[in-house]
Amino acid sequence: MKSSDLRRKFIDYFTAPPRSHREVPSGSLVPPDDPTLLFTNAGMVQFKRVFQGLERRDYARAVTCQKCVRAGGKHNDLEQVGYTARHHTFFEMLCNFSFGDYFKKEAIAYAWEWVTGTDWLGLDPQRLFITVHHADDEARKLWRSVAGVPDDRIYGLGDKDNFWQMGDTGPCGPCSEILVDIRSTERGARSRELGLDEFVRLSEAGQLLEIWNLVFMQYDQRADGARSALPAPSVDTGAGLERIAAVMQTVASNYDTDLFQPLIEQAVSIVGRPYDRGPGGAPYRVLADHARAVAVLLADGVYPSNEGRGYVLRRILRRAVRYAWLLGRREPTLAPLTQAVNAVMGPVYPELPQKAAHIERVTRAEEERFLETIEGGLARLGQLANQSAISGEEAFQLYDTFGFPIDLTQMIAGERTQAVDVAGFEQALEKQRRRSRAARKAGMGDGGRGKRGVGEWVELKKKVRQQWIGYETTRAETEPIAFRQTGDQLELILEDNPFYAESGGQVSDTGVVKGDGWELTVEAVEKVDGKSAVVGTFGDPFEPTPALAQVNEARRRNIERNHTATHLVHAALRKILGTHVRQAGSVVAPDRLRFDFSHHGPITDEALAHIEEEVNEQIWANLPVATRDMAYKEAIAAGAMAFFTEKYGDRVRVVDVPGVSLELCGGTHVPTTGQIALFRFTHETGAAAGVRRIEALTGPAAYRHALDLQHRLAEAAGLLKTQPEHLARRIEAMLEENRKL
Ligand code: SER
Repeated sequence: MKSSDLRRKFIDYFTAPPRSHREVPSGSLVPPDDPTLLFTNAGMVQFKRVFQGLERRDYARAVTCQKCVRAGGKHNDLEQVGYTARHHTFFEMLCNFSFGDYFKKEAIAYAWEWVTGTDWLGLDPQRLFITVHHADDEARKLWRSVAGVPDDRIYGLGDKDNFWQMGDTGPCGPCSEILVDIRSTERGARSRELGLDEFVRLSEAGQLLEIWNLVFMQYDQRADGARSALPAPSVDTGAGLERIAAVMQTVASNYDTDLFQPLIEQAVSIVGRPYDRGPGGAPYRVLADHARAVAVLLADGVYPSNEGRGYVLRRILRRAVRYAWLLGRREPTLAPLTQAVNAVMGPVYPELPQKAAHIERVTRAEEERFLETIEGGLARLGQLANQSAISGEEAFQLYDTFGFPIDLTQMIAGERTQAVDVAGFEQALEKQRRRSRAARKAGMGDGGRGKRGVGEWVELKKKVRQQWIGYETTRAETEPIAFRQTGDQLELILEDNPFYAESGGQVSDTGVVKGDGWELTVEAVEKVDGKSAVVGTFGDPFEPTPALAQVNEARRRNIERNHTATHLVHAALRKILGTHVRQAGSVVAPDRLRFDFSHHGPITDEALAHIEEEVNEQIWANLPVATRDMAYKEAIAAGAMAFFTEKYGDRVRVVDVPGVSLELCGGTHVPTTGQIALFRFTHETGAAAGVRRIEALTGPAAYRHALDLQHRLAEAAGLLKTQPEHLARRIEAMLEENRKL
């Protein structure tokens, strides 16, 4: 069965009465209202607000074929692509949805009919297995009564496998999967019953292949860790097209299906070397996969850049150039391949043929740009091959001079089992950012005609100074004073700017800027000539008007929790380990904090527990966090901690937690330490010689982490039919019994 027939049959089945679903086109890969998500990674993303009851549609049942990308963000499959039969950066998902309409019974009946019905996939029920959430007796019963699946083919699994959520927040619920036994494709081959262990082992080995996931949406996961009920129980199903195509075309790998073969054939004809289905064929599989991802991302308005989504696109593209290089190519390969992508997918996604020329042009320009430097970079990497590790400074040179993204350097080093000092790389990168900021401040700004070179800055209000208002507020009515459009990317300089631009380890804000008839989702904030520019994807010509700027507030609050906690942990480390401890770098993000510091040797569990408790005590004391401007000398005399490699002006900003911590810092902080709520370490490792690294969580993330541990403990106890407090004793008894046996 051809993949185009598969898509069509799926839509036909669900639109036909009495199922009567509305056919809805795929949503964009860039979720328009959701700055928390890098790319659309599941079919339900475009319906998130409908599930939450925040938006109504004139239909309660929908069917889609959705474009998804899993690269760069939380779901990141990039590294595996090329080396496995199933991993992709871009893939298609067949989905049917109920928004408060039907629930488990119909969802199961439809899924079963489509998968086994002779008019549809017609798979033999004897090759199929089902999983349900172990607490979902209702679903188990329905698989028996509605679909006639025998009980010994239904497996109850825990949250890890059978509870689906779109991200840290949003709709979620228990799920149920259909798996097909691909060990034999002979007609009439029967799969014998399998014990739970064997079932798990075979599914992890990919021999039982999950082809469909039915999520019974019931809850909304909130940022504060609580789960509320959705307005109505709903259904979200997803079936990976590539793997169903592999099953239906009885081929071992997704790359052998008609979705990829024309691309691989085209690549073979461009390159002129044969394709090998084994490990040697990885470069071709990478090219086929990456050509698809590059084409669909460009069609949806993502533009290669050094930030956010654009940087993920650039990394995919450069990874492809390197594999083409391995095949002997010295000129663009992906650009002509995007035409083959259009031929295969254009009939389904009209934006591809519409933007074919743009896709080809931008891909070619990006490939040419990297081809200018890749040889020098590979030669440099060759010279470094005999060293035990690649230092941060060398990795930075590869990035800065030869355009090698750090993951590309890691991948090439990894192929010869050589480590890369990523922390050192990040420090070098940050140092360069500081240098270029300083250069711009000194009047050497490129005015938009420098490195990037494509778009021109348009000045709207001359001689107006930008005001940074982000310490006081996260929202402002303001006006753009300049903008630049480069491809589908818009950079905007706002007169009153509440958006924090990455600095001192604290990541940039995200949010939205809304004007009259336009809206920009802020994905990144950059420094341009000493001003902050908000950046996002914007396909249409930009017509400036006054605007409302709104920082993503919940995200900023979590960043502030982590930033103040970073100061507290610095102070606690110095108190408990000694005053030789000095900050050597940090990352302050919404979901975690990372802190590197000078110290020799690992830290004992006992000391770590002590430090954690010390930080929490300062939180429970609910101390005020004061900020003030001081003369630099005065601040240092008062004992303020500073990075001594950094150059400061005469007047500095200090953040003061009285009696605990005093640091030079330009970041944003909670007003009182109590708002951090909770502090938990998650990791302690070495980052480089003489530098330790800790990672930790605060507030909602720390709470969720604790809940997660509790659930896992309860799950383990449940499996052993005991209570969490008796778990250790139960395991001891089992081990003892095993020994005896
Ligand atoms: N959202 C679920 C998944 O991605 C089902 O569509 O698997």
